[in-house]
Amino acid sequence: MQLKSCCIYSVGLFSMLTLIAGISLVLSNVFPHFVQSEVKKEIVLENGTEAFEAWENPPAPIYMQFYFFNLTNPLEVLDGDRPAVVEIGPYTYREYRPMEQVNFQDNGTKVTAVNTKTYIFQLNMSRGPESDLIRTVNIPAMTVMEKFKDHSVVANVISAYMRGTGERLFTTRTVGELLWGYEDGLLKALRVIQPDLDDVFGLFYKNNASNDGEYVFFTGQQNYKDFARVDTWNGESSLNWWTSDECNMINGTNGASFHPIVTKNETLYMFISDLCRSLYAKYEEDVTVKGIPGYRFSPPSMVFANMTVNPANAGFCVPAGNCLGSGLLNVSTCKQGAPIIMSSPHFYQADEKFVQDVFGMRPNKEQHQTLIDINPLTGIILQAAKRLQVNVFVEKIPTFSQTGNMRTVVFPVVYLNESVVIDDSSVLKLKAIGVKENVVVNIPFMLIGLGIVLGGVFMFLMCRQKVPESTAAERQPLLSS
Ligand SMILES: *[C@@H]1O[C@H](CO)[C@@H](O)[C@H](O)[C@H]1NC(C)=O
Ligand SMILES: *[C@@H]1O[C@H](CO)[C@@H](O)[C@H](O)[C@H]1NC(C)=O
Ligand SMILES: *[C@@H]1O[C@H](CO)[C@@H](O)[C@H](O)[C@H]1NC(C)=O
Ligand SMILES: *[C@@H]1O[C@H](CO)[C@@H](O)[C@H](O)[C@H]1NC(C)=O
Ligand SMILES: *[C@@H]1O[C@H](CO)[C@@H](O)[C@H](O)[C@H]1NC(C)=O
Ligand SMILES: *[C@@H]1O[C@H](CO)[C@@H](O)[C@H](O)[C@H]1NC(C)=O
Ligand SMILES: *[C@@H]1O[C@H](CO)[C@@H](O)[C@H](O)[C@H]1NC(C)=O
Ligand SMILES: *[C@@H]1O[C@H](CO)[C@@H](O)[C@H](O)[C@H]1NC(C)=O
Repeated sequence: MQLKSCCIYSVGLFSMLTLIAGISLVLSNVFPHFVQSEVKKEIVLENGTEAFEAWENPPAPIYMQFYFFNLTNPLEVLDGDRPAVVEIGPYTYREYRPMEQVNFQDNGTKVTAVNTKTYIFQLNMSRGPESDLIRTVNIPAMTVMEKFKDHSVVANVISAYMRGTGERLFTTRTVGELLWGYEDGLLKALRVIQPDLDDVFGLFYKNNASNDGEYVFFTGQQNYKDFARVDTWNGESSLNWWTSDECNMINGTNGASFHPIVTKNETLYMFISDLCRSLYAKYEEDVTVKGIPGYRFSPPSMVFANMTVNPANAGFCVPAGNCLGSGLLNVSTCKQGAPIIMSSPHFYQADEKFVQDVFGMRPNKEQHQTLIDINPLTGIILQAAKRLQVNVFVEKIPTFSQTGNMRTVVFPVVYLNESVVIDDSSVLKLKAIGVKENVVVNIPFMLIGLGIVLGGVFMFLMCRQKVPESTAAERQPLLSS
């Protein structure tokens, strides 16, 4: 009897202790913190870590897809009509972008590297071959005309030369030529007055198998939040990027700053050298990519808003004070004075005016927004799509009859979607981390559960112990009578 009740009271005590331990562990958040600190340890650029290998040689395939706008009514446009375009694409390239010349600096807190990109055409993922023809604005001619529009003597000579050679405002070129470069007759002729002029023009000219200079990244050794964050690019502090004139139009994505345990309040900075500046993205919604939970971040429309709406965007007005309107960025200085204007595809999130100005624009959030989906626990990118459109500023230039009665328009040439989706072997690793996390994080709840079960057992035993006593007490009078 003594031994039995001692046992029962131990069960009760143990149940109380388990409950208290479980509840205090839940309240103190020790286990989630433990998981997070384990993850943080893994997130550092250090020779040998998985994070370093994935950074040096991204395991998931990256695709660069181009969608051109084929002009259908060039004669009417020269007469003052709205341009009408048809979207043609995709033309898909697999992008290889290993980090090279990797050197650790400052006791492993920083690492320098160049990011060499190679583009390989993927016919089976494309609408047609690179020899498909596209009719669009003659960008070298437009650039030359803009440059000399106020020098009437030179303008007359150039205009006469263009008439002689049949050079027009619109031109038909192959996809390969427009992207990777072709020798331009007008530029070649201009070498007479400017011998150092490059006579090859292409939107991605010289970008294949080349790098865009040296990057310095933080390794995350000092603070995991700095993992793979760009410190400087070509010697310039990331803070100065948007004021820099020495930028280039299209050099591809240069990386996103991301780090483990992202929260919904986080602001992500993506450095995009095409825009000569960094953009920020805000949490938008929860998503699931290949079964892995993620947070979707995307640039809010404020990022592209004009200066009236968002004064912080004064940097978008180039030259200072010359604002084009929401959603456009003049990157002329980045492309040797070519009148290039960047926007989102189909002028998504831009002023309605630009959408209306060109027949065939159909902006749509799902297809045209830039997005990045991040696993909140590990900071690993599950999916990303960088979407940008290259436009040319076209206007009537009285000194050049080639521009006819052209109306002023921001003319879309091509848009790109540079995208990546996490590879399957990384998915398996992430799932394993997720299972471990679930087990560890649930230990306190398991303790509480155990406490409740033991408590139940305790009460059951108490009742069972009491029942025989009371029945005995009830029977006693019967026996004695
Ligand atoms: C990493 O270690 C390997 C083998 O020890 C060595 O060959 C390589 O050069 C190291 N890489 C860097 C960037 O230090
Ligand atoms: C690197 O570490 C050594 C020894 O710990 C120290 O003397 C040196 O100042 C450190 N260098 C830098 C650049 O932090
Ligand atoms: C880029 O360069 C690589 C190797 O130098 C070559 O195989 C590939 O065809 C080139 N891509 C384009 C689009 O020219
Ligand atoms: C683009 O338009 C031109 C002119 O109409 C036409 O020759 C060409 O085939 C079109 N391109 C494609 C890929 O359909
Ligand atoms: C980007 O590409 C251009 C070619 O269009 C090249 O001249 C330049 O060096 C590259 N890098 C940078 C940082 O501009
Ligand atoms: C774009 O910027 C260039 C250089 O700063 C400037 O000359 C040009 O007028 C601007 N274009 C527009 C359409 O504002
Ligand atoms: C800025 O955008 C707002 C809303 O789209 C518009 O009403 C305003 O006229 C724009 N201002 C300029 C300077 O373009
Ligand atoms: C890239 O974006 C376009 C639309 O902008 C879409 O049609 C295409 O499927 C996307 N590519 C990938 C690989 O997701």
